Formats: sequence, structure tokens, C-alpha cells
Amino acid sequence: MSKVEELEKMIEMAKLGGGLEGIQEQHKRGKLTARERLEALLDPGSFVEFDAFVVHRCTDFGMEKRKVLGDGVVTGYGTIDGRLVYVYAQDFTFIGGSLGEIHAKKICKVLDSALKMGAPIIGLNDSGGARIQEGVASLNGYGEIFYRNVMASGAIPQIVVIMGPCAGGAVYSPALMDFIFMNKGTSNMFITGPAVIKTVTGEDVTSDQLGGAETHARISGVASFIAENDEECLQAVRKLLSYLPSNNLEEPPAVKPEELKEYVADQELLGIVPDDPRKAYDVLPLIDRVMDGDSFFEMWKHYAPNVVVGFARLNGRTVGVIANQPMVYSGCLDVDASDKIARFVRFCDAFNIPLVTFVDVPGYLPGVRQEHGGIIRHGAKVIYAYSEATVPKITVVLRKAYGGGYIAMCSKSLGADVVFAWPTAEIAVMGPDGAVNIIYRREIAKAEKPEEAREGYIREFREKFANPYVSASMGIVDQVIDPRETRLHLIRSLETLMSKRSMQPRPRIKHGNMPL
Ligand code: HXC
Repeated sequence: MSKVEELEKMIEMAKLGGGLEGIQEQHKRGKLTARERLEALLDPGSFVEFDAFVVHRCTDFGMEKRKVLGDGVVTGYGTIDGRLVYVYAQDFTFIGGSLGEIHAKKICKVLDSALKMGAPIIGLNDSGGARIQEGVASLNGYGEIFYRNVMASGAIPQIVVIMGPCAGGAVYSPALMDFIFMNKGTSNMFITGPAVIKTVTGEDVTSDQLGGAETHARISGVASFIAENDEECLQAVRKLLSYLPSNNLEEPPAVKPEELKEYVADQELLGIVPDDPRKAYDVLPLIDRVMDGDSFFEMWKHYAPNVVVGFARLNGRTVGVIANQPMVYSGCLDVDASDKIARFVRFCDAFNIPLVTFVDVPGYLPGVRQEHGGIIRHGAKVIYAYSEATVPKITVVLRKAYGGGYIAMCSKSLGADVVFAWPTAEIAVMGPDGAVNIIYRREIAKAEKPEEAREGYIREFREKFANPYVSASMGIVDQVIDPRETRLHLIRSLETLMSKRSMQPRPRIKHGNMPL
């Protein structure tokens, strides 16, 4: 056998991972193999592999006889839409994709390279967790990955796709990354599985109920995006990357902008927000109409649906969109919504993505559950994140903007660069009903017809305060705009703000102490 033939043979062996049987088993479960997944993720023919021939060094528990080239993880780099990304894909066909010392070193190497080159890292996880036979060396390997995830945070986008099991402490690498994608049916994540839970707490739960994609998308908020299968998940990752810069020193990629002269006022925008502040409406069609066609890509769609966050393009430029969703809890801010907004705003700020906030918020959600759940602590995160953000910040007040909710949703006082208000905006300390019950309590009680008196006071309050003009007269709303021209105003101000420089000198600190 010639030297080249020997190399070719080794490459073929490495490609088999845990062997043909394992590959068939993987397909039977409706899962792609690690290499097939990388093929689906990356531009055709762009994958370059590292460390295809490394093997583990474990000699305990008969492991010296169980060695395959690559040690259960495929690593390297490739391109997505022509842009460099680093990748790793765990191979379940070899000892359940479990992570030992060498397997961890391979992942650390691509993480280090990604950080050095300023390119995103994408992990495809499918693993039984710490390789039990390698003991503490596996735990150390996880620790080294976690450390790198933290060092890379805010410097390069970190995206992980859970494509099988992800159990125990293994969940913390994904948790330290920016976005977790999961697919329905085959992926699950938990710290302790159903069997341990049964022993410790007596609870009966299936893996899927405990940590499946739907659970993490709707209940825990761990999953940022869920898809039906491997292929859909990987296509969604490609789409997400199209909005993001490769690192924190770059601007997000822009697509060819439209010609502004052709701008036509959008009559449809008049029909979306009802004048009656008690009526609900869906904010998504409004976002779709204002942003570039079909560009809105929603994240954490199923978690805290009382607010909406996602990426979109405005005249070709990436923006982060945050909006109250009046269809759910009237768009109130609660514990979960606060976490969702704060995390998204901080990601955008780290990666130079301007923020566009649409406000229709009656306030923070009242209730014992919210207070005891720490709405004070969680709600503070929204204020912290918006205040700290130095990217261009544009706010559009659509209708209600009451109390703390008004301040938190990127008000002028938190450093919004431009605040627009629609004529339907009501910016006030609280809604007319609540306000009148407090300030006219005695008058209403004494009135001959208390209900009529209350109605009268509410009308008076609404006329006086429930409009955008008080705020406009104080300069905390920059412009009251015709709703039909919202897109034009947003595009113009975004273009103006692209040269924004942070004016305020900040104190020299190591880092702030964000409420967590
Ligand atoms: C060594 C493992 C393994 C592990 C799976 N395997 N997990 N080997 N260490 N952690 C092996 C199995 O023995 C089996 O080997 C092969 O992988 C495939 O696994 P199966 O059990 O046959 O597959 P399946 O039925 O699909 O079940 C997959 C599974 C299950 C749900 C992942 O294997 C499982 O529960 N594994 C243990 C999960 C776990 O508790 N991990 C440790 C978590 S603690 P053969 O030889 O039969 O092919 C942890 C700490 C990290 O991760 C801490 C970081 C700080």
C-alpha cells in the first residue's frame, strides 16, 4: 500500500466513526450522523476537518480496545454563505458521543481558533455526557469548554444545536452560549434524568416532558428556537447567521438597501392598532409591515409570548426588534418577559445590532406570583440592559406606555436616541382608570352618582394626559409621527444613527453588577 493509499484508508476509517451499525441505528432514530449534519449546515464542499486521527488515551474498563479515529466528535471549519465558521459535531455512534479528555480537547481547539479568527462557533451536540470510563478527566474537559464559552461570550456568536441527549453538567456549555436550537422528538436537555428524579422526588416524568424541545421552548426558555427535524434546525442556524456579524468588532452584514425615494405611505398600518386601549391586537403584522419584507426572524417565539424579540432588516441593515405583544397579558412585562428582553438586548449590544422597540405596555404584571417570583429583580434587568446598550436605540410608542413599563421599554431617559410616538400613544404614570380611582377617590365616593362621576374624571384624565403631546411638549418624545410613515422614519433615523459614538464617559469599572 502506498503512503497516499494508507492516508486515504485512514480518512475512510475516520469517516465511519463508531461504525456502519451505529450509522444505521442513528438513521433509524430519524437522526443524521455528525458528518451529514455538518454537510447540511455548511456550504457544499467547504468543510475542513481538524484532528480526524486523534484517539483517546484511556486504558481503564477495557477502553484500550475501544478506540476509533476522531474520538466521537468531528471538528473543523467551513463556510456559511461564504463566511468562515468553526464547528464541532458530536458523533453518537461512538460510545454515545460521550465526552472524554481528548474529545474535549478537540472542542477546545475549535473554540480557541474561532476566538482567534473572530468567527462564530457552532456546536452540534448529541452525547451521553461525561464519558464515565474516563472519570474526572471528562469533568475537567467540560470545565475547559465552559471556561472558553465564557471567554468567547460577547466576542463571537456562539450557537449550539441540541440533536440528541444533553444530560447532566453537559448542559452548561449550551447554557453559556448565545442561542440554543433544539429539534422536536430527538433532542432533550436536563440536569438529572427521569430515573434520578423518580428516586429523589418521586415524580414521574418522561424525557420529553422533562427536557424536550417543546418544554424548553415554552416553559423554561432554555431553547431559543425549535424545529421539526435535523435539516430544518440546521437551515434555521444558517438563517440566524445571515443577520449576525462574525465578531464584536464587525458590523452585521447588510443586504442591498432599497431606494428611499420610492417610499409609499402604508395605509394598512392605520388598521392594526385599535384606538380603544382596552382592545387587543397582534403586533406581528405591524412588525412585518415596517421591516423589510419577510425579514423578521423571531427568537424565543414560544417563551414569554407577551413580548416579541427577533432579528429583522430595515433597509437592508440588521436590527434587533423588541415589542410588547398586546394579545398576551396585554403585553405586560413579567418575570419571564423581562429575562427574554434583557438577554436579547445584551446580545444585540455586544454585536453592534441597533435596537428598534415597539411599545404598547400597561406596565409590569401585577400579582402575588410575580412579586414572589422576583419581578423586582428580573424587571430591573430590562432597565439595566437598555441603559447599558450603546448601539443605536430607536423607540416607537404605539399606544399604552404606562409607569415603570414605559421607562423600561427604552424610554428617552434610558438613553433612547430617537423616540417616536403614534397619535394613539398614551404616555402616563398609569392608565386613566387606575389614576382616577386614586386621585379622585374622595370626590367619587361623595358624588351622587359615583359611576357617572368616575366616568367623567376618566374622560378628563384621558383628554389631559393619555396622549403623546404632554411627552412631546417635554421633549421626551422626539416626534409624533403619522403611523403610515413609520417605516420611512425608522429608516431615516437608523441611517443617521449609524455613525453614533457613545458620548458619555463611563466610570472605569471591571464590569457592572447586573441584577441576575
Ligand atoms: C460512557 C456512554 C455514556 C456515558 C452513553 N454511553 N452515555 N458511555 N459514558 N456517559 C454509551 C452506552 O453505554 C452505549 O454503549 C452507547 O453509548 C449508546 O448508548 P445507549 O444507552 O445504548 O443509547 P440510548 O438508549 O439512546 O440512550 C442514550 C442515553 C443513555 C440517554 C444518553 O445512554 C444514558 O442515559 N447515558 C448516560 C447519561 C448520563 O447520565 N451521563 C452522565 C451525565 S453526568 P454501547 O457500548 O452499548 O454501544 C455528566 C457530568 C458532566 O455528564 C459534568 C460536567 C460538569
